[in-house]
Amino acid sequence: MNTPVPVLQNEDELERVYQVFLDRKPTKTLEIGSMYGGTLYHWLNGTKPGGLVVSVDLMIPQSDPRYQQVAESRQLWQGWAEVARVELSQNDGDSHDPLLINLAEHYAPYDVIFIDGDHSLRGVTADFENYWPMVKPGGLMIFHDISCPDVNEYQIGSGTFWRELVSKGVYVTSSIENTPAAWGFGLIFKPEPISEKFGADVKAVERRTKKGKSK
Ligand SMILES: C[S@@+](CC[C@H](N)C(=O)[O-])C[C@H]1O[C@@H](n2cnc3c(N)ncnc32)[C@H](O)[C@@H]1O
Repeated sequence: MNTPVPVLQNEDELERVYQVFLDRKPTKTLEIGSMYGGTLYHWLNGTKPGGLVVSVDLMIPQSDPRYQQVAESRQLWQGWAEVARVELSQNDGDSHDPLLINLAEHYAPYDVIFIDGDHSLRGVTADFENYWPMVKPGGLMIFHDISCPDVNEYQIGSGTFWRELVSKGVYVTSSIENTPAAWGFGLIFKPEPISEKFGADVKAVERRTKKGKSK
């Protein structure tokens, strides 16, 4: 996939998750953790024209050797949004900060929320708890780095979080994981309210049976 800035993803996994994203024809997307904007670029291009993409991203510290390139990349984002004819709400801050949570809530509900910010176990769990209510019924939340083993040198807790969540057995989940040793996307689908779906089905059955009687 062509991306104008570095994208911190396994190329094949990204292509597969992007296809899932496109199939949902999202009009509102939220990304936590954008860095250079590699995934953000694709969400902007895959969100319906006229739609909205919200980015919440904590800038890396100036001491980080990637700082300059990240700062320059961030200058490109509004231009990408204009070309894609999508509104971009670009927010520098900590996803756990109540101000940022309120800001994201202001635009909710979202068709898709992608979580790729604070990868500590506490961080990713807090993002799930704070942002899952903002996924619309029938929508999707995607986590990155779910293939990470429990014990790893960077203290990444996304894999542990994911395995705990799946083991509860109460969420509708699937994963995109290249083996061996790729990074992995975890997908959680929020069901539509059952009563509404059933109501629609009953009307369809009634229409069919009335037709049947009049013949
Ligand atoms: C792995 S990078 C994102 C990569 C990007 N999604 C991509 O695939 O190209 C993680 C980003 O999340 C940011 N981040 C870390 N903790 C965060 C937090 N609590 N809230 C928001 N962003 C955070 C980091 O500074 C960094 O910019």
